[in-house]
Amino acid sequence: MEQSFKNKVIFISGGTGSWGQELTQQLLASSPSKIIIYSRWEHKQVDMKRKFHEHKNIHYVIWDVRDKERLLSITKWVDIIFHLAALKHVPVCEENPNESVLTNILGTQNIIDVALANNVERVIDVSTDKAVDPFNIYGTCKAVWEKLIIAANMQSKSTTFVCIRGGNVLGTNGSVVPLFIEQIKKADLVTITDPDMTRYIMRLAEAVWLLITASVHAKWGEVFVMKMPWITVQTIADSLIQVFGSENTKQKIVGSRPGEKKHELLVSQYESERCHILNESYFVILPMIDTGKDYTEYTKLPKIEQSFFASNNTNMLSAQEFVETLRKDWWFNHIEQTKTAIQELEQLSKDEIIKYFLHQQWAK
Ligand SMILES: NC(=O)c1ccc[n+]([C@@H]2O[C@H](COP(=O)([O-])OP(=O)(O)OC[C@H]3O[C@@H](n4cnc5c(N)ncnc54)[C@H](OP(=O)(O)O)[C@@H]3O)[C@@H](O)[C@H]2O)c1
Repeated sequence: MEQSFKNKVIFISGGTGSWGQELTQQLLASSPSKIIIYSRWEHKQVDMKRKFHEHKNIHYVIWDVRDKERLLSITKWVDIIFHLAALKHVPVCEENPNESVLTNILGTQNIIDVALANNVERVIDVSTDKAVDPFNIYGTCKAVWEKLIIAANMQSKSTTFVCIRGGNVLGTNGSVVPLFIEQIKKADLVTITDPDMTRYIMRLAEAVWLLITASVHAKWGEVFVMKMPWITVQTIADSLIQVFGSENTKQKIVGSRPGEKKHELLVSQYESERCHILNESYFVILPMIDTGKDYTEYTKLPKIEQSFFASNNTNMLSAQEFVETLRKDWWFNHIEQTKTAIQELEQLSKDEIIKYFLHQQWAK
């Protein structure tokens, strides 16, 4: 694993996002020669620079994936590209379909063109369950994005293009867990779109680890599908109320947002015919088009048994398992500790509160 990234120049489009920062963190352990973080907004780059201030081999470039000329020059000496930059909020994409097409489709074609022109070794793309039998513009753009990436292998002599497909990653920008926690803390209320709605979920660290391992094993044009458990939106709300709220916490059903599906699919019915079980973490979907490559290694593996994988027909997480999953992430523990501290403070007198703060190193 380490050798795959050692001394390499790695380019991460969308490197300041949730996946990008975790990916950077994990890649640093493999001693790359340089990591280039590419994104549009300076404040996110400034925050990331502060967080990774010890790592002088990270370079930050402000620009847009829609601009091919700039990408062409920046990726000149790059060995590996992780393409993460996306407009990913379903309702935002529904209301701005043209912007979604420009970033998610044109941006991806630009990445492909510059990777081919600069003989990049590998391009790894992160896709989503929303690309399977897509219902919204984000999913539709991601489905085209996957097709562009797979077909790029046919134009390529040396560059490998692959996709990794995953469901919802807990705690990423805009995800439901931080939203519910904030709603409970601020208003003692959670707004539920549809209690029976189901979603595949995974922790960020695990998702990025799987992304890295798939990128190491990739050949040509595979879509690696992360196996994930699923959960209902109601169970997410109940679990978080149990931890952060009380019996007085209110729940309000607000209805699905534009473009939202009730259940997501990881593998569609038609894809299942080309979908093999790689190991306990991954399915692999082989390309439909003839890339001229040998996939015997994969075709020897068993095919998946179900005709499709939907977020209400595989492995469901219980409320307790969900809370245990969340507890593994620092931000959850931090919030929980803060809540416990507040509850303790409420029991104390004024003098005791002063003593309490003096006892804490940070208050001295
Ligand atoms: N989070 C999930 O649950 C999940 C699940 C499956 C797949 N994915 C996929 O994983 C990837 C990363 O997701 P994430 O959760 O890390 O998203 P995120 O936190 O919103 O990060 C998106 C990144 O893309 C950059 N970006 C957006 N538009 C850009 C443009 N036109 N040019 C250059 N950079 C641009 C953003 O920075 P600026 O805004 O500063 O440009 C940011 O760095 C996406 O492709 C997403 O579709 C995410």
